[in-house]
Amino acid sequence: MSDTITYSASEKRFCLRTDSTLYVIDLYDGKYPLQRYYGPAVDTLPDAFHVYRAFSPYPTEYGPGFSFDTILSEYPTFGNGDMRHEAMRVKGPDGSGVTDFVFIGFKIDAGREPIPGLPYARPDADTETLEMHMEDPVTGCVLTLRYVVFPHEDVIARSYSLRNASGGSVVLENGMSLCLDIPRADFDLTYLPGTYGSERFNTKRPLSQGCFLMDSRRGSSSHHMSPFFALSDRGASEESGRAYGFNLVYSGNFRSMVEVDQNQTTRVLTGINPDTFSWKLAPGEVFHAPEAVMTYTDKGLGQVSRNFHRFANRHLARPCGFERRPVVLNTWEGTFFNINEDRLVKYAKEAAALGIDMLVMDDGWFGTRRNDLAGLGDWWECRDLFPDGLGAFVSRVKAQGVRFGIWIEPEMVNPDSDLYRAHPDWCLHVPGRRRSESRNQLVLDMGNPDVLDYLKTTFSKTFDGVGLDYFKWDMNRHLCEVWSSSLPADRQGEAYHRYVLGVYDLADWFRTQYPDAMIEMCSGGGGRYDLGMLPYCSQIWTSDTTDAVHRTKIQSGSLYGYPASMMSCHVSNHYNVVEDEQRMEFRWRVAMGGPLGYELDPTSLSDKVKETIRAQIAEWRNCEQIVLWGDYYRLTDPLAGAVYAYCHALPDAGELYLNFLQLVPEEPKTYVLKLIAADPDAVYKDRYTGLIVTGQQLRDGFAVRSERTDQLAKAWYFVRQ
Ligand code: GLA
Repeated sequence: MSDTITYSASEKRFCLRTDSTLYVIDLYDGKYPLQRYYGPAVDTLPDAFHVYRAFSPYPTEYGPGFSFDTILSEYPTFGNGDMRHEAMRVKGPDGSGVTDFVFIGFKIDAGREPIPGLPYARPDADTETLEMHMEDPVTGCVLTLRYVVFPHEDVIARSYSLRNASGGSVVLENGMSLCLDIPRADFDLTYLPGTYGSERFNTKRPLSQGCFLMDSRRGSSSHHMSPFFALSDRGASEESGRAYGFNLVYSGNFRSMVEVDQNQTTRVLTGINPDTFSWKLAPGEVFHAPEAVMTYTDKGLGQVSRNFHRFANRHLARPCGFERRPVVLNTWEGTFFNINEDRLVKYAKEAAALGIDMLVMDDGWFGTRRNDLAGLGDWWECRDLFPDGLGAFVSRVKAQGVRFGIWIEPEMVNPDSDLYRAHPDWCLHVPGRRRSESRNQLVLDMGNPDVLDYLKTTFSKTFDGVGLDYFKWDMNRHLCEVWSSSLPADRQGEAYHRYVLGVYDLADWFRTQYPDAMIEMCSGGGGRYDLGMLPYCSQIWTSDTTDAVHRTKIQSGSLYGYPASMMSCHVSNHYNVVEDEQRMEFRWRVAMGGPLGYELDPTSLSDKVKETIRAQIAEWRNCEQIVLWGDYYRLTDPLAGAVYAYCHALPDAGELYLNFLQLVPEEPKTYVLKLIAADPDAVYKDRYTGLIVTGQQLRDGFAVRSERTDQLAKAWYFVRQ
């Protein structure tokens, strides 16, 4: 085995190494894991953090020199003297939430084990795992803390499992996947709040003593707050300064918290939101937590993003299965609910002529679904629309020369549906109480095995053998009145998490049942845009906002934590822009931020626009490699000014794609864009204009002037000569 993870028995010390970082855990008295160091690889560790404080209780065997309240802890539990927020609280048979987990052993392995029922990062040949086993003698619980090291992306994944080894039941009331105590607090916090249509607007604030909470209680990770966040040196720039990044591989209610304490140390916690969670463990039962990921760099927030992009691409996202990402034509903004077989066959014919690879039939094709009032849950084709059946229609579409994809929203039910009439108890609801609707729909109890059986059987009947190439899986409301008819009263705290486990179970079924079909996730746009969905899909619909000016802000924010390859983007005709050359070009350059698609009525386009789209797709094929898989550099922030400029670079610096997107008019001024990814010793030629520049010039700054206009795109594609 390599020295990625080592244990020194004499020092009672674990060292976890990635290509550029070192993470050190010390066992205090051989019993309590302390966070000793996380930062750049060093030979000599700084002294351990140590302070005394009045009012900080101490275990009597150690005396006042050691308090859980002032140490940097690896995994603090509730009630044993640490007054900060805990990583874990377990209620034992005596009703107290106090535990005192003590180290009892460890294991270092090559590779990693899957996490049962949950998504997790796939290992590569150099991945190693440390498991530390801890025991609480009073509750009889055994806690396994897991650290999976991905050396080449500088990422460590953290999770735990908790086994009830006692004779009685215990209740897990809080279990964070990750705790990181850092011996300083002079940080800026960057995080991604938002709302429907305005997801992931990057926001920065300085930390100070107290807690800052980022969470979701909506049943999914949500439009409103992303699980991604980062801490960076105050005043750190995009490309310099120390920074830590965090994220959670989970799609349900999460809590991320940053707490600065009396000693100006910082505690980072992230995991399932304890506000909507408790989990009963009968004797012998085990709970497995989702995985959290963290990265460290001294190269600023830009490198945090690049580490996470690479990590998500290599270890989380499901490959799309096709040779390259299909350019899709999605019917939603073209037809909305007016699905009609002949019309869509025409769409397919036009799409093929434009160079589009796949027609995606959106909402409105099934049951009585002619608007959003009815039909969700009835997953069979509407025979009025498809008299010869779905299979015959798909064959007609494919005969035009495109692949075929279909929209589904498996987790939902309209009260006006055959499913609801047959099984009114299958939706989340509390007996005797109102069932609140949102978009006229209720939420199925995905934790109920009968619901999953129904969905699998019904989808299988409708879709097997039809030759579908793609699913767009939507989720168009959030959860409330959460109670499950399949759980006893003392397990209702499990309903939210069991819902997410059910979603993963069904997503896994789709992955297995239709192995050749690509999956795109969606939730009213980007409402479940998280790392937990990624192992089941290749891309996620970023936002229902297709207005390109607003989109720049959503896309720029999303790229803080998530790779371009997952950021599904469409050129739409929203605001009727396609006939306007400048606006059309702008919309396309924005939509080339991630996998490109179109969402408009292709039968209504002029020949000139059709020619433009053909050229756009051809140029996308030249750019897709660098955009989807290259390294991304933010140059300006569209939330802070008139321009969104960024650069993608191939890792060997052989090619650089620079995009300069002017959102709104301004008094012309010069932007000096430093392309630090350029090779200083190389000469580059721009593919578009023939301009010759040296790599050093690009690094020193490439000057671009803004204009007195809006929605203007300028792009350069520099190729090393
Ligand atoms: C959500 C999606 C849209 C579209 C509609 C259909 O809003 O984000 O792209 O699929 O549902 O109802």
